[in-house]
Amino acid sequence: MRLNIVVLPGDGVGPEVTEQAVSVLREVATTHGHNFQFTEYPVGGEAIRASGSPLPPNTLNACLKADAVLLGAIGSPEFDHLPSNQKPEAGLLQLRRALGGFANLRPVKSYSALAHTSPLRDEIVRGSDILFVRELLGGLYFGEPRGTSNNNGSSVAFNTMRYSVSEIERVACVAFEAAMRRRGRVTSVDKANVLETSQLWRQTVTRVSADYPQIELDHVYVDAAAMHIIMNPRRFDVILTENLFGDILSDEAAVISGSLGMLASATVGGSVDLYEPVHGSAPDIAGRSIANPLGAIASAAMMLRHTAGLEDEAADIEAAIDDVLDSGYRTRDIALDGSRVVSTSEMGECVCDAVAQTADMRHAYHAV
Ligand code: IPM
Ligand code: MN
Repeated sequence: MRLNIVVLPGDGVGPEVTEQAVSVLREVATTHGHNFQFTEYPVGGEAIRASGSPLPPNTLNACLKADAVLLGAIGSPEFDHLPSNQKPEAGLLQLRRALGGFANLRPVKSYSALAHTSPLRDEIVRGSDILFVRELLGGLYFGEPRGTSNNNGSSVAFNTMRYSVSEIERVACVAFEAAMRRRGRVTSVDKANVLETSQLWRQTVTRVSADYPQIELDHVYVDAAAMHIIMNPRRFDVILTENLFGDILSDEAAVISGSLGMLASATVGGSVDLYEPVHGSAPDIAGRSIANPLGAIASAAMMLRHTAGLEDEAADIEAAIDDVLDSGYRTRDIALDGSRVVSTSEMGECVCDAVAQTADMRHAYHAV
């Protein structure tokens, strides 16, 4: 299989973690005989410094022509003073809109080797396996009008939460389809006791659910959901929610995996799929080779599954991550006293080695 992958390392720890994800993809290409081409382009703060724009036209054009885009992270405190439409993050939002992916899939699971390192008790997190389906192109992030104005000498700022029926329907379908391949449950999260957008959300999701009689649907208010995710994460299978709620709840749910550095994401449904770890640019630890590359590597696995249909290869990467964790290797964010702490690049190498071994075993098995 040939894949033309555009890599956007971006800011902070982005370059360090994407480098490892690319190494793992190269390893998979070698072991399985694929041809993956990688081309890097600037985005975010890095691109502002080079050209004044967080999403230069060359970067955008390359992404639009790619089979898939792998992004590291975006955001830098250096640009905090800029208005929001000029910040590095604006480049990411423009990119998401241009690529058109409206469903952001964020799997959160408890790794058995890490269950005891979670800030939550082992018996609460062990066995948890949640898929967040976050609406990514609507809500407060994109709603108009937005801005600031002057009201009798005092500043006012405003954003608009807006959703249409079709925007809700299309992301709801993604959640129900995902639940069909999982444990058959969708929990839709909203604030329908207060917000009109949430009332429309709830009605629409309920109507779409009629096409999926096998799926068990329930609705939970976002404040209660925030608590249940911590108190009883195993009660959830697929969580479907709007953009900002999904942003907040997925960071919260990272404690189930032990660290935000573990989480991967795939943005699908548009013309080009976008893959990015959930953690941000983490400027405080950037450049020290201590960031956890497993979220970026797991995002690469999602790319092989969702964009390329390479299920075995995706599963090999995921099995390699499990093996490396079972063998006791830890980046600092998931380490406890006495753990074998490795750098970002060493962790990447461990995963590459494990991928190569799995492939060898596969060949040996087929040869018997
Ligand atoms: C995320 C990030 C982004 C978001 C930021 C960097 C714009 O927090 O992917 O979760 O809010 O969507
Ligand atoms: Mn976020």
